[in-house]
Amino acid sequence: MTAFGSVFMPEMALTEFDGEKWGDHKLVPSDSLTLHPGAHVLHYASTCFEGLKAFRHPDGSVKIFRMDDNIARFAQSTELLALPAIDPAQTRDMILQVVERFASQAPEAPGSLYIRPTHIGTEPAIGKAAAPSLTSCQYVLVSPVGDYFAGGSDTTLRLLLEENGMRCAPHMGRIKSGGNYASALQPIMKAKRDLKVDQVLFCPNGDVQETGAANFLLIDGNTLITKALDDSFLHGITRNSLLTIARDMGLNVEERDLSVTELLERSRKPGCEAALSGTAAVLTPVGTLLHNGTEYQVGDGQAGTTTAKLRQALNHIQWGLAEDTHGWLTSI
Ligand code: COI
Repeated sequence: MTAFGSVFMPEMALTEFDGEKWGDHKLVPSDSLTLHPGAHVLHYASTCFEGLKAFRHPDGSVKIFRMDDNIARFAQSTELLALPAIDPAQTRDMILQVVERFASQAPEAPGSLYIRPTHIGTEPAIGKAAAPSLTSCQYVLVSPVGDYFAGGSDTTLRLLLEENGMRCAPHMGRIKSGGNYASALQPIMKAKRDLKVDQVLFCPNGDVQETGAANFLLIDGNTLITKALDDSFLHGITRNSLLTIARDMGLNVEERDLSVTELLERSRKPGCEAALSGTAAVLTPVGTLLHNGTEYQVGDGQAGTTTAKLRQALNHIQWGLAEDTHGWLTSI
């Protein structure tokens, strides 16, 4: 089994912004990119990306999940990083072009074709430490994937609650920028090595935010609690889909601040559940929280039934086994 996102289809869709306009996009080999070593992205991290998936349905068709929402977030990340504005219609065409090209390689469910639009500042200008790149490149890679977390939805994750570190600068959290992921690496690697956890849940000053690559949801009985949208964390599209499905299922959804103290108190209750959500993570159950050297089991420490129901309801829409009542799927 290859690692998530390590196998790429041999072509990607690509377009370049020359300082004035975007060129025509085209399919090019995906194994290399010509970039000046002084390119803005390599020095000042002018880069953002998206992660979305295409799914094979039982009738053989391939559908893309929440493509326009991902493109909207991509446009916003682009703007917040002062990269040249994208043309959402062109990005849409690029995604469709490359997914159509490799539709035959989309795995059967539960696998999918992971789609990675990327935008980088290409101007060779190392003097521009405090100025934006005037040129840029956008490309869309595709990669057939299975589960992101090795155990899938059957095993539970062990998380460290980290109150002292931050995932990224507080005003950058909502941007899907490469730099945010790099800045979270040291605390994650240290916690994995020293404390044998799977992930770190960043909770600066006791405010429960998110892990390195997924949002956090707490389910206590009929109530689902997750942080309300602000600039400090990524506005997950899977998070939004799951909250919508949870409301459809009659759960009471509370988008609000959640403190570490409240999280640990609620976790003790039998039946309490916690999970991580993301395009890659889907909805992966959390069984144990580690805080200041003490281990806390979430509920009975096993994968919870509400988590499983939410994941199944989401998957069934994605896989074409349930009606797409929210209009989340795009046919190619
Ligand atoms: C995603 O869930 O799509 C992500 O971006 C997480 C990760 C693979 C970086």
